Amino acid sequence: MNREDFVLLNKDIIYLDNGATTLKPKSISDAISDYYNNYSANTHRGDYDLSLKVDSKYEQTRQLVKNFINAKKTKEIIFTSGTTDSLNKIIFGFFKYYLKENDEILITKSEHASNVLPWFELAAELNLKINYIPLNNLEVTLDNVKKSITNKTKVISIAHITNVVGDIRPIKEIIEYAHNKGILVVIDGAQSVAHMKVDVQYLNIDFLAFSAHKMLGPTGVGVIYGKEELLNNMKPIIFGGGMNASFQFDGKRIYNDIPTIFEAGTPNIAGVIGFGEAIKYLNDIGMDKINKYEQKLKKYAISKLKTVNNIIIYNEKSQSGIITFNIKDIFAQDLAIYLNKYNICIRAGNHCAKILNEDLGIKNTCRISLYFYNTKEEIDYLVKVLNNPNLKEEII
Ligand code: ALA
Repeated sequence: MNREDFVLLNKDIIYLDNGATTLKPKSISDAISDYYNNYSANTHRGDYDLSLKVDSKYEQTRQLVKNFINAKKTKEIIFTSGTTDSLNKIIFGFFKYYLKENDEILITKSEHASNVLPWFELAAELNLKINYIPLNNLEVTLDNVKKSITNKTKVISIAHITNVVGDIRPIKEIIEYAHNKGILVVIDGAQSVAHMKVDVQYLNIDFLAFSAHKMLGPTGVGVIYGKEELLNNMKPIIFGGGMNASFQFDGKRIYNDIPTIFEAGTPNIAGVIGFGEAIKYLNDIGMDKINKYEQKLKKYAISKLKTVNNIIIYNEKSQSGIITFNIKDIFAQDLAIYLNKYNICIRAGNHCAKILNEDLGIKNTCRISLYFYNTKEEIDYLVKVLNNPNLKEEII
């Protein structure tokens, strides 16, 4: 990896908001421009060279994604517009028909809005019950999962890594236990797939949702991974061109097989092609290397941040590159605005996890989220700026 590949890293900013979205290497925008300048035809519709080239590039990304998460088949990879879209399609396309009145859904209070609100909607529609796995020091344990399961639990839907406290859930053990009880498991991989090796066969994941833009790729592209037999029982919630084999005036219609049944309309072709380049970039570095580097940097960051006056770190022990903190008596957003004056980008607020307040004991926090291009020097600078003796005056 070369920091020169990232145009923004050479513009005197310190970017520590990778949980929101990552920066993009130049090869991604080059691939997107190449598509728009040199072969910008539609996909899956034309019989001419340009369109066939688009098909080949588009399907190449599907193959890259399949290999990246070690899915069994390319048809288990569906392109969406992002994790939110993926989760909505899984919940309203599969679970709407799978769940029955009074069935129970198990989530946690640290889930992102995208893994809570669609379930709330479905629960209201079908009269389902939502239960929460209690958190243990903000983390999910297998024991607490076991205690929360009842004979009505039909699905567990949790993030692999949460976006606020960055805890890595023991999903392999949770999935194994759930499957023994006949429970399906949906994994929100938005914060994990970019940061560690996620092998869907090894983990035996039923459904996985994630976004390209959190892993160097363009915005507006996401993925549903689903086991073939589950996807074959999922219904599309968007209908139109590309997803149908035929339809007649009397309403008779035949839809395509997976994955195209779930990709109606012209997709984000440029985005999907750019996403392919992002995966190649990550593969060239290696996910294990990325993960090890982030963990090391996180430890370094924690040790340095602890020297900051009045800092409260909420998730010192979590193993991901997410660090959530506050400085006593300073409103989180004020601190983020102060850091912005020094060209340091962090996120502040409730991070779309609005029901975590009670467990966290506070509504708003500051969040640093690291990626492999961040450095110790950047952390040192952040800590220096946080240790500014005039910090309070500058904020006021
Ligand atoms: N879900 C993204 C975040 O955590 C936007 O910042």
